[in-house]
Amino acid sequence: MGLKADSIVIRGGKPLMGRVDVRGAKNLATKAMVAALLGKTPSILQDVPQISEISIVTKMLEAYGVAVTSPEDGVLVLDPKNVERAHFAQIDALAGSSRIPILFCGPLLHALGEALIPDLGGCRIGDRPIDFHLNALRAFGAVVDKSYEGIRITAPNGLTGANIELPYPSVGATEQVLLAAVRAKGVTELKNAAIEPEIMDLIAILQKMGAIISIEPNRTIFIEGVETLSGYSHRAIFDRNEAASWASAALATGGDIFVGGAKQQEMMTFLNIFRKVGGAFDVREDGIRFWHPGGPLKPVQVETDVHPGFMTDWQQPLIVALTQAEGVSVVHETVYENRLGFTEALVEMGADIVVHSDGLESVTRRVPRRKLEQAAVVTGPTKLHAADVRVPDLRGGFSYLIAALAAEGTSTVSNLGLISRGYEHFVDKLTALGADFDLI
Ligand code: EPZ
Repeated sequence: MGLKADSIVIRGGKPLMGRVDVRGAKNLATKAMVAALLGKTPSILQDVPQISEISIVTKMLEAYGVAVTSPEDGVLVLDPKNVERAHFAQIDALAGSSRIPILFCGPLLHALGEALIPDLGGCRIGDRPIDFHLNALRAFGAVVDKSYEGIRITAPNGLTGANIELPYPSVGATEQVLLAAVRAKGVTELKNAAIEPEIMDLIAILQKMGAIISIEPNRTIFIEGVETLSGYSHRAIFDRNEAASWASAALATGGDIFVGGAKQQEMMTFLNIFRKVGGAFDVREDGIRFWHPGGPLKPVQVETDVHPGFMTDWQQPLIVALTQAEGVSVVHETVYENRLGFTEALVEMGADIVVHSDGLESVTRRVPRRKLEQAAVVTGPTKLHAADVRVPDLRGGFSYLIAALAAEGTSTVSNLGLISRGYEHFVDKLTALGADFDLI
């Protein structure tokens, strides 16, 4: 947001020290904005970060006739009273860089009886299919037609509650079901749902709007459809991905960062690993302090998983810190099939990382392996040296910033726009932490 430069030249080798604040989670705020489409009255969302993903969703909502205003920094007022069909080309042009359009389906089907969804963008970290989404919509009675330009979804008889079991607890597909079921006729039972904190926050928002949603044991969610929903007023849950990214930056650079707004509950699994690696943290009322206490870091075995497991988004920044641990760490990526590709640049910078694209057999595994698994074997400690690298995806990009900050010498990280998608004011935050850099 507001970032004109494409590249940053970092003179690394200095610990990051100081305070940064995190605001609302990208992966809640964007969905909360879509939920506003379901209300009869305006919604108010607070703690909205200034990131480009929010601007993209704002433009999409505007294309559908939603009035989006920001009376003050961090606050959005979303008024859906004039919702209308958008021009497909308008949405298509915006969607290129976002996964959010698919979540418009339920609210648009309720409001207009039709949704046109373009091919989806988002980070190139794997295939990212939408079959769970489309099958769930079909279960509600929607008709899905695919054309060369995208997908046309209609609901000639409205949406009716359904029994849905997801093949995998997908975050997006769970949100899809919630956003469609709250105003469908009858009751929806969703089995094998994702239960990430951002999803719980979305459920809290929907409850404020008038929805009836109960969460049963074993990942089952019941949604009793209601006729109308009103707007909400809600403060978005904090961005735990951003918080974990700064924590990893503190560890990798031998620094000390207080992350204002970070909370313990949603980060417990990360905090366990952070401690095992040898990082120190102190949970305070208004945030969490993360620091490198000195001495060697220790290797760990990590397996990414759905909540309450270790988030896939956390492994990329953590891997940079693991290059400084004494011994062999193994990171199993089980959620996306291409989320370890970013390590190639780290190897160029001197890291010893071998990616096993079919995963590794291991007796210490917590969950059964998925077909898409890969494993990164990180042997440390290795001195990182400067390099010129290009941001491949959001979290991988932030990891390159950390690597450049930890490395001796002058590195250039290009394609910074991708980092602005999800990291608010990261350049100002780097300045606040004493980083030595220039933008070009
Ligand atoms: C969300 O993606 C987040 N994105 C991701 O964060 C995050 O990494 C991911 O959840 C896991 O926590 C947003 O919230 C916008 P999934 P989502 O559906 O919803 C497969 C970031 O950097 N799948 O839980 O797209 C899929 O391919 C981003 O902030 C299907 O096979 O994730 C993947 O292997 C990156 N068919 C797995 O499920 C489907 O229809 C999990 O995906 C849907 C998903």
